[in-house]
Amino acid sequence: MNRIMFVCLGNICRSPMAEIIFRDMVEKTGRSGEFLIASSATSDENVWNGIGSEVYPPAKKILEKHGLSADGKRAVQLTAQDGAKYDMFICMDRYNVRNVSRILGTENSDKIRMLMDFTAQPGDVSDPWYTGDFETAYKDIYEGCNGLLEFFEKEMAESV
Ligand code: 4NP
Repeated sequence: MNRIMFVCLGNICRSPMAEIIFRDMVEKTGRSGEFLIASSATSDENVWNGIGSEVYPPAKKILEKHGLSADGKRAVQLTAQDGAKYDMFICMDRYNVRNVSRILGTENSDKIRMLMDFTAQPGDVSDPWYTGDFETAYKDIYEGCNGLLEFFEKEMAESV
């Protein structure tokens, strides 16, 4: 089982998009049973009401444009206990990496990655909260998820 947690600051834009896009890609390969896929926030900005905020409407809209639904997803915050529950923590930007390290502790530091490191253009995912450009964020996240899937397909082929 590959247990993957996507992480961003608020868990209402980038990491839910990654969770939903990657889950769809995995489903299309018929390997859903081999993956546990989730997403969470480093901040408590969107969990204060006890049930978590829904995905931000423009992020929902861009997912719908690509045939994907964000219904039912609500923001949750990453906790120290998640360290033992997941194998990989995939961050949207470098600030997330620092915050995830702080939350999970040093014993989990080798599980932390950046999504765009799985593409030919490493760096931060374009942040639509500040740019307003959800199309570019979608494109970055799609490419990152595609690279991530290739990484796992290679790894799973080698372990057979
Ligand atoms: P996300 O976007 O980290 O991609 O979910 C943001 C959501 C909320 C805030 C910032 C970024 N905020 O400052 O509340």
